[in-house]
Amino acid sequence: MTERTPVTAPAPRPVAVFDSGIGGLTLVKALLERAPDTSIVYFGDTARLPYGSKSDATIERQSLECLRFLLGFDPAMVVVACNTASSIALPALVRAVDRPVVGVIDAAVTAALRATRNRRVGIIGTAATIRSGGYERRLLEQAADLTLVSRACPLFVPLVEEGWIDHDVTRQVAHEYLDPILAQGIDTLILGCTHYPLLKSVLAGVAGPDVTLIDTGAETAAEVADRLRASPDATSHPRAPAAAPSLHFFVSDVPSRFEDNGARFLGRPLGPVTLVEQSDVPWYARRLDATKGGA
Ligand code: DGL
Repeated sequence: MTERTPVTAPAPRPVAVFDSGIGGLTLVKALLERAPDTSIVYFGDTARLPYGSKSDATIERQSLECLRFLLGFDPAMVVVACNTASSIALPALVRAVDRPVVGVIDAAVTAALRATRNRRVGIIGTAATIRSGGYERRLLEQAADLTLVSRACPLFVPLVEEGWIDHDVTRQVAHEYLDPILAQGIDTLILGCTHYPLLKSVLAGVAGPDVTLIDTGAETAAEVADRLRASPDATSHPRAPAAAPSLHFFVSDVPSRFEDNGARFLGRPLGPVTLVEQSDVPWYARRLDATKGGA
Protein backbone atom coordinates (compact mmCIF):
# COMPACT_ATOMS: atom_id res chain seq x y z
CA MET A 1 0.00 0.00 0.00
CA THR A 2 1.40 3.34 -0.95
CA GLU A 3 1.49 5.98 1.71
CA ARG A 4 -0.28 9.19 0.82
CA THR A 5 1.50 12.41 1.56
CA PRO A 6 -0.83 14.96 3.14
CA VAL A 7 -1.54 17.75 0.73
CA THR A 8 -1.44 21.19 2.22
CA ALA A 9 -2.80 23.71 -0.21
CA PRO A 10 -0.30 26.44 -0.94
CA ALA A 11 -1.64 29.93 -0.20
CA PRO A 12 -2.26 32.32 -3.10
CA ARG A 13 0.82 34.28 -4.15
CA PRO A 14 0.73 37.54 -2.22
CA VAL A 15 1.23 41.12 -3.24
CA ALA A 16 4.22 42.34 -1.23
CA VAL A 17 4.09 45.90 0.09
CA PHE A 18 6.79 47.78 1.93
CA ASP A 19 7.17 51.12 3.59
CA SER A 20 9.59 52.74 6.00
CA GLY A 21 6.97 52.10 8.66
CA ILE A 22 3.27 52.29 9.26
CA GLY A 23 2.23 54.84 6.64
CA GLY A 24 2.01 52.33 3.78
CA LEU A 25 -1.07 50.90 5.44
CA THR A 26 -3.02 53.79 3.85
CA LEU A 27 -2.23 52.15 0.49
CA VAL A 28 -3.10 48.69 1.80
CA LYS A 29 -6.47 50.02 3.03
CA ALA A 30 -7.25 51.41 -0.43
CA LEU A 31 -6.09 48.19 -2.10
CA LEU A 32 -8.28 46.01 0.12
CA GLU A 33 -11.27 48.24 -0.63
CA ARG A 34 -10.74 47.66 -4.37
CA ALA A 35 -9.45 44.09 -4.31
CA PRO A 36 -10.56 42.46 -1.02
CA ASP A 37 -9.44 38.99 -2.11
CA THR A 38 -5.79 39.97 -2.35
CA SER A 39 -3.27 38.25 -0.09
CA ILE A 40 -0.83 40.82 1.21
CA VAL A 41 2.50 40.53 2.96
CA TYR A 42 3.59 43.88 4.39
CA PHE A 43 6.94 44.93 5.75
CA GLY A 44 7.33 48.14 7.76
CA ASP A 45 10.96 49.05 8.40
CA THR A 46 10.13 50.63 11.76
CA ALA A 47 13.66 50.18 13.10
CA ARG A 48 15.02 52.54 10.48
CA LEU A 49 12.15 55.00 10.00
CA PRO A 50 12.22 57.79 8.90
CA TYR A 51 13.58 57.35 5.39
CA GLY A 52 12.64 60.91 4.47
CA SER A 53 15.61 62.53 6.22
CA LYS A 54 18.24 60.03 5.00
CA SER A 55 20.74 60.18 2.13
CA ASP A 56 19.97 58.65 -1.27
CA ALA A 57 22.55 55.88 -0.73
CA THR A 58 21.02 54.86 2.60
CA ILE A 59 17.47 54.95 1.25
CA GLU A 60 18.46 52.76 -1.70
CA ARG A 61 20.34 50.23 0.45
CA GLN A 62 17.51 49.95 2.99
CA SER A 63 14.89 49.64 0.24
CA LEU A 64 16.85 46.81 -1.39
CA GLU A 65 17.01 45.06 1.99
CA CYS A 66 13.21 45.36 2.38
CA LEU A 67 12.82 43.90 -1.11
CA ARG A 68 15.17 41.01 -0.31
CA PHE A 69 13.13 40.13 2.76
CA LEU A 70 9.83 40.18 0.86
CA LEU A 71 11.13 38.04 -2.01
CA GLY A 72 11.18 35.16 0.49
CA PHE A 73 7.37 35.10 0.13
CA ASP A 74 7.50 34.66 -3.66
CA PRO A 75 5.20 37.64 -4.24
CA ALA A 76 3.42 38.13 -7.56
CA MET A 77 4.22 41.81 -7.40
CA VAL A 78 6.07 44.24 -5.12
CA VAL A 79 4.50 47.59 -4.26
CA VAL A 80 6.73 50.34 -2.90
CA ALA A 81 4.23 52.26 -0.77
CA CYS A 82 6.89 54.64 0.54
CA ASN A 83 7.10 57.83 -1.54
CA THR A 84 10.69 58.41 -0.44
CA ALA A 85 11.77 54.91 -1.55
CA SER A 86 9.74 55.25 -4.77
CA SER A 87 11.40 58.60 -5.56
CA ILE A 88 14.94 57.43 -4.96
CA ALA A 89 15.28 53.65 -5.09
CA LEU A 90 12.73 52.50 -7.70
CA PRO A 91 15.20 52.03 -10.59
CA ALA A 92 17.48 49.90 -8.38
CA LEU A 93 14.52 47.87 -7.10
CA VAL A 94 13.22 47.24 -10.62
CA ARG A 95 16.70 46.14 -11.77
CA ALA A 96 17.04 43.77 -8.80
CA VAL A 97 14.08 41.46 -9.54
CA ASP A 98 12.33 39.55 -12.28
CA ARG A 99 8.77 40.54 -11.33
CA PRO A 100 6.72 43.75 -11.37
CA VAL A 101 7.78 46.43 -8.90
CA VAL A 102 5.27 49.28 -8.65
CA GLY A 103 6.10 52.64 -7.08
CA VAL A 104 3.67 55.41 -6.20
CA ILE A 105 4.83 58.15 -8.53
CA ASP A 106 3.36 57.13 -11.90
CA ALA A 107 -0.23 56.68 -10.74
CA ALA A 108 -0.11 59.98 -8.82
CA VAL A 109 1.29 61.81 -11.85
CA THR A 110 -1.48 60.44 -14.09
CA ALA A 111 -4.12 61.53 -11.56
CA ALA A 112 -2.59 65.02 -11.21
CA LEU A 113 -2.53 65.50 -14.99
CA ARG A 114 -6.16 64.44 -15.14
CA ALA A 115 -7.11 66.85 -12.33
CA THR A 116 -5.33 70.08 -13.21
CA ARG A 117 -7.15 72.68 -15.22
CA ASN A 118 -4.78 75.62 -14.92
CA ARG A 119 -1.59 73.47 -15.32
CA ARG A 120 -0.20 74.60 -11.95
CA VAL A 121 0.58 71.64 -9.70
CA GLY A 122 2.03 71.53 -6.18
CA ILE A 123 3.97 68.63 -4.68
CA ILE A 124 4.60 68.05 -0.98
CA GLY A 125 6.61 65.23 0.58
CA THR A 126 9.57 64.39 2.79
CA ALA A 127 12.87 66.22 2.42
CA ALA A 128 14.36 63.32 0.41
CA THR A 129 11.34 63.03 -1.91
CA ILE A 130 11.39 66.74 -2.73
CA ARG A 131 15.21 66.80 -3.04
CA SER A 132 15.05 63.93 -5.54
CA GLY A 133 12.84 65.89 -7.96
CA GLY A 134 11.25 62.55 -8.95
CA TYR A 135 7.68 63.82 -9.18
CA GLU A 136 8.73 66.96 -11.08
CA ARG A 137 10.73 64.94 -13.63
CA ARG A 138 7.89 62.54 -14.30
CA LEU A 139 5.28 65.33 -14.53
CA LEU A 140 7.37 67.36 -16.97
CA GLU A 141 8.09 64.27 -19.10
CA GLN A 142 4.34 63.93 -19.55
CA ALA A 143 3.49 67.63 -19.91
CA ALA A 144 6.26 70.19 -20.42
CA ASP A 145 3.85 73.14 -20.07
CA LEU A 146 3.20 72.56 -16.34
CA THR A 147 4.23 75.02 -13.66
CA LEU A 148 5.36 73.07 -10.58
CA VAL A 149 5.83 74.20 -6.99
CA SER A 150 7.20 71.80 -4.41
CA ARG A 151 7.85 71.92 -0.71
CA ALA A 152 9.25 69.50 1.88
CA CYS A 153 6.95 69.20 4.92
CA PRO A 154 9.04 67.22 7.43
CA LEU A 155 6.84 67.97 10.46
CA PHE A 156 3.75 66.25 9.04
CA VAL A 157 5.08 62.69 9.59
CA PRO A 158 5.74 63.08 13.35
CA LEU A 159 2.42 64.89 13.80
CA VAL A 160 0.54 61.98 12.22
CA GLU A 161 2.59 59.43 14.17
CA GLU A 162 1.61 61.30 17.32
CA GLY A 163 -2.05 61.11 16.34
CA TRP A 164 -2.38 64.90 16.04
CA ILE A 165 -4.67 64.61 13.06
CA ASP A 166 -7.42 67.15 13.65
CA HIS A 167 -5.32 69.44 15.83
CA ASP A 168 -4.73 73.19 15.90
CA VAL A 169 -0.96 72.73 15.88
CA THR A 170 -1.22 70.60 12.72
CA ARG A 171 -3.47 73.21 11.10
CA GLN A 172 -0.96 75.95 11.94
CA VAL A 173 1.94 73.89 10.54
CA ALA A 174 -0.11 73.18 7.40
CA HIS A 175 -0.64 76.92 6.86
CA GLU A 176 3.08 77.53 7.32
CA TYR A 177 3.95 74.92 4.67
CA LEU A 178 1.09 75.36 2.22
CA ASP A 179 0.33 79.09 2.14
CA PRO A 180 3.41 79.94 -0.01
CA ILE A 181 2.55 77.11 -2.45
CA LEU A 182 -1.11 78.13 -2.61
CA ALA A 183 -0.05 81.72 -3.30
CA GLN A 184 1.37 80.43 -6.62
CA GLY A 185 -2.18 79.61 -7.75
CA ILE A 186 -1.96 75.81 -7.90
CA ASP A 187 -5.23 73.93 -8.47
CA THR A 188 -3.83 70.44 -7.75
CA LEU A 189 -1.67 69.25 -4.86
CA ILE A 190 0.11 65.88 -4.83
CA LEU A 191 0.27 64.46 -1.29
CA GLY A 192 3.63 62.77 -1.89
CA CYS A 193 3.95 60.88 1.38
CA THR A 194 2.27 57.85 2.93
CA HIS A 195 1.20 59.81 6.00
CA TYR A 196 -0.50 62.77 4.35
CA PRO A 197 -3.82 61.07 3.46
CA LEU A 198 -4.55 61.04 7.19
CA LEU A 199 -4.28 64.83 7.15
CA LYS A 200 -6.62 65.19 4.18
CA SER A 201 -9.35 67.07 6.02
CA VAL A 202 -6.89 69.55 7.57
CA LEU A 203 -5.07 70.00 4.24
CA ALA A 204 -8.35 70.39 2.34
CA GLY A 205 -9.45 73.02 4.87
CA VAL A 206 -6.21 74.97 4.37
CA ALA A 207 -6.09 74.54 0.58
CA GLY A 208 -9.76 75.35 -0.01
CA PRO A 209 -12.32 73.81 -2.34
CA ASP A 210 -10.59 74.85 -5.59
CA VAL A 211 -7.53 72.65 -5.00
CA THR A 212 -7.72 68.91 -5.79
CA LEU A 213 -5.68 66.76 -3.42
CA ILE A 214 -4.04 63.70 -5.00
CA ASP A 215 -3.77 60.71 -2.66
CA THR A 216 -0.76 58.82 -4.03
CA GLY A 217 -1.52 55.63 -2.09
CA ALA A 218 -5.14 55.44 -3.27
CA GLU A 219 -4.14 56.14 -6.90
CA THR A 220 -1.48 53.42 -6.75
CA ALA A 221 -3.88 50.97 -5.11
CA ALA A 222 -6.28 51.54 -8.02
CA GLU A 223 -3.45 50.81 -10.49
CA VAL A 224 -2.45 47.64 -8.60
CA ALA A 225 -6.08 46.45 -8.43
CA ASP A 226 -6.40 46.98 -12.22
CA ARG A 227 -3.23 44.99 -12.83
CA LEU A 228 -4.46 42.16 -10.60
CA ARG A 229 -7.77 42.06 -12.43
CA ALA A 230 -5.96 42.00 -15.76
CA SER A 231 -3.81 38.99 -14.80
CA PRO A 232 -5.63 36.97 -12.10
CA ASP A 233 -3.31 33.99 -12.67
CA ALA A 234 -0.37 35.90 -11.23
CA THR A 235 -1.71 35.76 -7.68
CA SER A 236 -3.61 32.47 -7.67
CA HIS A 237 -1.46 29.43 -7.14
CA PRO A 238 -2.22 26.86 -9.86
CA ARG A 239 -2.77 24.11 -7.28
CA ALA A 240 -4.88 26.16 -4.90
CA PRO A 241 -7.18 28.40 -6.86
CA ALA A 242 -9.66 28.69 -4.00
CA ALA A 243 -7.25 29.25 -1.11
CA ALA A 244 -8.34 32.04 1.22
CA PRO A 245 -6.56 35.39 1.04
CA SER A 246 -4.33 36.30 3.96
CA LEU A 247 -2.77 39.40 5.52
CA HIS A 248 0.65 39.25 7.16
CA PHE A 249 2.40 42.18 8.75
CA PHE A 250 6.11 42.23 9.59
CA VAL A 251 8.14 45.01 11.18
CA SER A 252 11.79 45.50 12.08
CA ASP A 253 11.08 47.00 15.54
CA VAL A 254 8.40 47.52 18.23
CA PRO A 255 5.45 45.52 16.82
CA SER A 256 3.13 46.65 19.62
CA ARG A 257 3.29 50.29 18.50
CA PHE A 258 2.63 49.20 14.91
CA GLU A 259 -0.32 47.10 16.08
CA ASP A 260 -1.82 49.96 18.11
CA ASN A 261 -1.33 52.76 15.57
CA GLY A 262 -1.89 50.56 12.54
CA ALA A 263 -5.62 50.43 13.08
CA ARG A 264 -5.80 54.19 12.48
CA PHE A 265 -4.04 53.82 9.12
CA LEU A 266 -5.80 50.62 8.03
CA GLY A 267 -9.22 51.57 9.37
CA ARG A 268 -9.57 48.24 11.18
CA PRO A 269 -7.58 46.08 13.64
CA LEU A 270 -4.46 44.49 12.14
CA GLY A 271 -4.17 41.33 14.16
CA PRO A 272 -0.75 40.10 15.24
CA VAL A 273 2.36 41.75 13.84
CA THR A 274 5.60 39.78 13.55
CA LEU A 275 9.00 41.17 14.49
CA VAL A 276 11.72 40.11 12.02
CA GLU A 277 15.23 39.12 13.04
CA GLN A 278 17.78 41.90 12.76
CA SER A 279 20.76 39.58 12.50
CA ASP A 280 21.13 40.31 8.77
CA VAL A 281 22.32 43.86 9.38
CA PRO A 282 25.84 43.36 10.69
CA TRP A 283 27.25 46.76 9.77
CA TYR A 284 30.10 46.34 12.28
CA ALA A 285 31.01 43.02 10.71
CA ARG A 286 31.16 44.64 7.27
CA ARG A 287 33.57 47.22 8.63
CA LEU A 288 35.79 44.51 10.12
CA ASP A 289 35.82 42.66 6.78
CA ALA A 290 36.81 45.83 4.97
CA THR A 291 39.68 46.42 7.42
CA LYS A 292 40.90 42.83 6.94
CA GLY A 293 40.66 43.18 3.14
CA GLY A 294 42.70 46.40 3.23
CA ALA A 295 45.42 45.03 5.59
N1 DGL B 1 6.93 56.57 4.19
C1 DGL B 1 7.59 57.85 4.00
C2 DGL B 1 7.15 58.45 2.66
O1 DGL B 1 6.11 58.13 2.13
C3 DGL B 1 7.29 58.80 5.16
C4 DGL B 1 7.97 58.41 6.44
C5 DGL B 1 9.49 58.43 6.37
O2 DGL B 1 10.10 59.50 6.25
O3 DGL B 1 10.07 57.34 6.43
O4 DGL B 1 7.88 59.24 2.11
